Amino acid sequence: MTKTINGFSKLSKTEKIQWLTAHFSADPKASQSVLFSWQHAEESIQKVIDGFTENAIANYTLPFSIAPNFLINGKEYAVPMVIEESSVVAAASSAAKFWQERGGFHAEVIGTVKLGQVHFYWPGNPDTLRELFPALKSRLLDSSKDLTANMEQRGGGILDIELIDFELIEPEYFQLRASFETCDSMGANFINSVLERFADTLEDFFTQHPGLTDAERDVEVIMSILSNYTPQCRVRAWVECPIQSFAELARAQGMDAEALTRRFHRAVRIAQIDPYRATTHNKGIYNGIDAVVLATGNDFRAIEACGHTYAGRDGQYRSLSSCTVENGTLRFELEIPLAMGTVGGLTALHPLAKLSLELLGNPSAEELMCITAVVGLAQNFAAVRSLITTGIQQGHMKMHLTNILNHLGANEEEAAAAQHYFQNQTVSFSAVRSFLWEKRS
Ligand code: MEV
Repeated sequence: MTKTINGFSKLSKTEKIQWLTAHFSADPKASQSVLFSWQHAEESIQKVIDGFTENAIANYTLPFSIAPNFLINGKEYAVPMVIEESSVVAAASSAAKFWQERGGFHAEVIGTVKLGQVHFYWPGNPDTLRELFPALKSRLLDSSKDLTANMEQRGGGILDIELIDFELIEPEYFQLRASFETCDSMGANFINSVLERFADTLEDFFTQHPGLTDAERDVEVIMSILSNYTPQCRVRAWVECPIQSFAELARAQGMDAEALTRRFHRAVRIAQIDPYRATTHNKGIYNGIDAVVLATGNDFRAIEACGHTYAGRDGQYRSLSSCTVENGTLRFELEIPLAMGTVGGLTALHPLAKLSLELLGNPSAEELMCITAVVGLAQNFAAVRSLITTGIQQGHMKMHLTNILNHLGANEEEAAAAQHYFQNQTVSFSAVRSFLWEKRS
């Protein structure tokens, strides 16, 4: 029986589920019952959620959690986070509390410029193109006025258009690189619409321009699309305190504040030197960032892609965070590009994204950039703190214990007994299973 289908997207949701389970499930009835039971939202909201993507057949649930006690630029936040990894929210909350007692987090937006490109091939002399560019640029700006009017009213729009010449690397390849201010929106649709208009205008310009040879009229636009690399849309978050503020934490680990600080500083240095460590170090930062980005209905793939390119901007992939210890003060800092929006996209459509923004006080995009960077820094701080002291598994497995107990079907009483027992024991799947076996026998 063939498993190819034409017109799957035209089927109703029920038909899709029936076809899918009939062809791809070992137990169609059981799979159907799972899929039909994961349609939780109230009808009108379910319709909106189903509209997000093609071929939606169920809702895939992730926990919507809160990390309280974030003090950022003197303002208190309880930050919504969406993530499946057990220990992430606990770690963020614990770092938030730690720094709340030490002056809190600081953050500032360095810039908000977004970029887009029209990639084209043109067979003429680059000097001629450079001469024509001022006239072309003004045509491009004129031709997109209807698209930019609203954004301009909000204080944004096109900032500049540059001609970039790649001739030395690839004959005939040029690029229009446009920069944009998109205010509180992430701006992807706005930028892409403007770029596609630029592409049409560019073609018209060459085909209609008097005085060009036939060959010079032969412009070929390859594509028009925003760039997710937005190094100028960047935020800095930092914490600082006298190293003696670590005395208590250090004592609990049998060290003094100087030793703890040295270990912390070295751990961050290692992530700046070694790409293997840097990747994991930055993954820890994105544990926090992605969770806030998802909770607020932003695009975590765009944000990750950009951040990793930025981490490799000098030719080697490095830590996004840095640490200095000077005059008895530790400063831990994260500088990261974050193209985020608080209007448009899913932000008003997804009920929990909308609520997340409301819980954060309906921030501007710039404020949300600050909050998100801070959570990334907090997450990084918590991970490195664990790594240089107890190791990561202690906290991680404590949180993961609940998953193991659920997996093994522990009832409430067994779970409570296990939580108590494993307070001072190493958690592993087999240790928990043995504990339950013994208890059950
Ligand atoms: C785990 O999700 C993240 C960490 O590996 C980050 C790090 O090593 O810094 C703990």
